[in-house]
Amino acid sequence: MGEGKGLFITFEGVEGCGKSTQMELLKGWFEERGGRVLALREPGGTGLGEKVRAILLNPQGEVIDPFAELFLYEACRAQLVNNVIRPALHKGLTVICDRFTDSTLAYQGYGRGLDIGAVLSANALAAKGLTPRITILIDCDPEVGLRRAWKRIEAGAMGEDRFEREDISFHRRVRDGYLDMAKKEPGRIKVVDGSREIPLIHKEICDIINSKRLGPYVI
Ligand code: TMP
Repeated sequence: MGEGKGLFITFEGVEGCGKSTQMELLKGWFEERGGRVLALREPGGTGLGEKVRAILLNPQGEVIDPFAELFLYEACRAQLVNNVIRPALHKGLTVICDRFTDSTLAYQGYGRGLDIGAVLSANALAAKGLTPRITILIDCDPEVGLRRAWKRIEAGAMGEDRFEREDISFHRRVRDGYLDMAKKEPGRIKVVDGSREIPLIHKEICDIINSKRLGPYVI
């Protein structure tokens, strides 16, 4: 649940689903209404997190063991939760995070095939019980998303392409995993169809926030 006075929202989805664009639009929407917003990304958002991100997304040829991968994501998370997210929520900020524990379940659990119970335990340890108040899952056909992601990478997106290089069956497992998770937690995880125009998707996300009375003006 949310903590302190603040509101914790996360965005999830496969590569190239459009979550960064939507996150930016939602941040602006809150700010126009007087909200104080902190936008973060996982892995990242701390000195340690950004360094580990570079290793995770571009290991320069070294094969990363799936458990090493899991623990590196969790290490970034523990650092981000303790040093950045919790203090911000206690100050009453709205924290919007690009990926969180659901990414680990989708990618390391459903995608890599690690034991789901083990991933849930690791998530709980790293997040120390912090759960998003609402999670926007931007659903997208992985083939469409990957095409978009590759365009961005070819245009110079800093060599962060380790997951984009995974084959399509990996990305399909990730997408199906997300949809499965959304079925299990319909109150928190809201599925939004990412194949539509950007403004339409943004409107639906704002409607979701409004319908849950999550705007900063109602807190
Ligand atoms: P992105 O910031 O461009 O979405 O890249 C992050 C990548 O890391 C993305 O391919 C998904 C992956 N990832 C995991 O595999 N597990 C995790 O727990 C997180 C947070 C991200």
